[in-house]
Amino acid sequence: MTSPRSETVAKLTPVLTKRWGVPDAWKIDTYEKLEGYLALRKALKAHPDDLIALIKDSGLRGRGGAGFPTGMKWGFIPQNDGKPHYLVVNADEGEPGTCKDLPLMTSDPHALIEGVIIACYAIRSNRAFIYIRGEAVHAARRLRAAVEDAYKRGYLGKNILGSGFDLDLVVHSGAGAYICGEETALLDSLEGFRGQPRLRPPFPATHGLYACPTVVNNVGTIASVPHIVLGGAAWWKSMGTEKSSGPMIYSLSGRIANPGQYECGLGITLRELIELAGGMKPGHNLKFWTPGGSSTPLLTADHMDVPLDFESVAAAGSILGTTATQIFSDQDCPVYATYKWLEFYHHESCGKCTPCREGNYWMVRIYRRILAGEGTYEDLDTLLDTCDNILGRSFCGLGDGATSPVTSSLQYFKQDYLDYIEGRTAPRLRSAELVGAH
Ligand SMILES: Cc1cc2nc3c(=O)[nH]c(=O)nc-3n(C[C@H](O)[C@H](O)[C@H](O)COP(=O)(O)O)c2cc1C
Ligand code: SF4
Repeated sequence: MTSPRSETVAKLTPVLTKRWGVPDAWKIDTYEKLEGYLALRKALKAHPDDLIALIKDSGLRGRGGAGFPTGMKWGFIPQNDGKPHYLVVNADEGEPGTCKDLPLMTSDPHALIEGVIIACYAIRSNRAFIYIRGEAVHAARRLRAAVEDAYKRGYLGKNILGSGFDLDLVVHSGAGAYICGEETALLDSLEGFRGQPRLRPPFPATHGLYACPTVVNNVGTIASVPHIVLGGAAWWKSMGTEKSSGPMIYSLSGRIANPGQYECGLGITLRELIELAGGMKPGHNLKFWTPGGSSTPLLTADHMDVPLDFESVAAAGSILGTTATQIFSDQDCPVYATYKWLEFYHHESCGKCTPCREGNYWMVRIYRRILAGEGTYEDLDTLLDTCDNILGRSFCGLGDGATSPVTSSLQYFKQDYLDYIEGRTAPRLRSAELVGAH
């Protein structure tokens, strides 16, 4: 392991992660001692419209993958419409490689709760939900205990801190399906239906939960709000880039010395992140990586200096996504990695639309053939043709995302595919038969 240089360490900007290392940070007493609920007191004295304006000014963009401007989303909620408004926090965190929301909820649950209360006050909502991944039992337990404590201290419930504002917050555990992270499938699931995406328009801003105006935001987005309220828009914008403002939690996994969460201003590079993580594991050289989870096209060692912000990653041909940087080395096979991701997409496809349901089914079969040493040159064309029929023709982003590792690995690592087809690489699978698959 190599130590990072001091100028690279200086690029760490712990904001959302700043309390994670403090003993018992999840307890309400500790949180209150560390500026906890100060932002709420400040926010409740402001006009809700001014809070929306503040979030717009800060340039905060959604941390759930698409980077949609948060203040604008809040501004879409119609006012004086006589309908209930809802805030739904997306805590499903299912994108492979992504691990920023669960540690946040485990280490600093009150930051999320405080953000929820401020966001609800801003959009005039009296009921909020945190939809958390079913498997995340520990995080859900901690979150529920924190919600209970927040009620006891008067931060939730009726007449919050004497302001006249009421809010109830429900923590709802999903059943564990990747598609339930897609915001409209999440809403269906929350309403008690099978989680499948809804046709849009109408959008959740007008017809969301129970057909009422709803904001759906990621955990990291909402947990950023108290920091912006306390620090101000200018301070927030002092981190990151002009169009991608603020700090971001980059989740590093794979062949590096110190995997984990590194919070830096948007626009840091992979080279710097790897340096912060103590370098690559001994004996490993970077071969390919995902900038934001497996739904974002793979990048290579040639892209180590691309600033990891929304615009620069798009210009490099990928997507910033959830900033889940999964790092693979020359000892990893891009064909096999893509196959494993595709098995995931095939398994998680909700089946509502044909391109994704059938396309992923067939692509898994082609990959098994290639990895069993029985692939043909035609298989590579069929893979690209299948992706062409999925991308842009699927009902939701799951189908589009499934094509990312396929097309990008074929773009950068076609030779690895040819090595299987032409017999230079030993087969990885004993048989192309799908044993036990569905
Ligand atoms: C298949 C799929 C899975 C998704 N999973 C998540 C998730 O686990 N968490 C999340 O915040 N957003 C997820 N999203 C994005 C949400 O649909 C939505 O854009 C996001 O919750 C909006 O919040 P934000 O504006 O704060 O980023 C997913 C999208 C798709 C297409
Ligand atoms: S793209 Fe896949 S997950 Fe999305 S609606 Fe179609 S079948 Fe379901």
